[in-house]
Amino acid sequence: MTQLSAAHTKPSDGSKALYGGKGTRRITVRDIALAKERGEKWPMLTAYDAMTASVFDESGIPVILVGDSAGNCHLGYDTTVPVTLDEMSMLSAAVVRGTRRSLIVADLPFGSYQEGPVQALRSATRLVKEAGVGAVKLEGGERSHEQIRLLVESGIPVMAHIGLTPQSVNAMGYRVQGRGEEAAQQMLRDAKAVQDAGAFAVVLELVPAELAAEVTRTLQIPTVGIGAGAETDAQVLVWTDMLGLTSGRVPKFVKQYADLRQVMTDAAKSFAEDVVAGTFPQEEHSVH
Ligand code: KIV
Repeated sequence: MTQLSAAHTKPSDGSKALYGGKGTRRITVRDIALAKERGEKWPMLTAYDAMTASVFDESGIPVILVGDSAGNCHLGYDTTVPVTLDEMSMLSAAVVRGTRRSLIVADLPFGSYQEGPVQALRSATRLVKEAGVGAVKLEGGERSHEQIRLLVESGIPVMAHIGLTPQSVNAMGYRVQGRGEEAAQQMLRDAKAVQDAGAFAVVLELVPAELAAEVTRTLQIPTVGIGAGAETDAQVLVWTDMLGLTSGRVPKFVKQYADLRQVMTDAAKSFAEDVVAGTFPQEEHSVH
């Protein structure tokens, strides 16, 4: 990666930071690279629809991920595995329409890039052309480096994803990755492989905090942690976990910032009770 001097690290729109900056134009992968040089930490959230994405965009979240976690969190599947490219394209287009400033990154779903670089390029091209996303994300380190290289050479920015890779749940389960010397060395090799292939950032999912810190110090591209401790350059959470909409247990690494499930349940019950009691609508809600 080209090293830029400190004089050139101010975002070109005049804002100071990815989060809290004043700029209104779309964040680009160049802004992300400059933030790493400034040592700036940044937040990323998932979104799967225009309205939710517009809230995060207006809140200043610089990067929104249309994750294939949409499978579990939006489409009612048990895992991310069944999610299709058509579904990702439709959801991503909605998120792009709902936002003005955030960089939109869309997941390449399972089965849309594993065959090889040409399949990956065909799939990523659809998300860029049909949905208008600014970057794509795919899972895998060394095993995906050829896909990453062709996409980047073709002008499509790529966020990589290593550690726990949910599309491989049938092979690896949902377990912490990188424990033990051999697994840690493989994680470092995977991280370097995606950087060398041209990825602009890498997600580290469910990785011991000390190892994630070492990967972050080793790489020139930013690391985006989820269950990977406090030392990564950025942090990502799935929005339905973060806002308390997910039913049942959420992973230990999630911090719940609101209890939307309770808020929505209370509101739905209040509405139902008003209708049953005949107290809604009232005069102010009526037209004549
Ligand atoms: O699909 C997703 O939401 C993700 C995040 C957990 C990083 O990949």
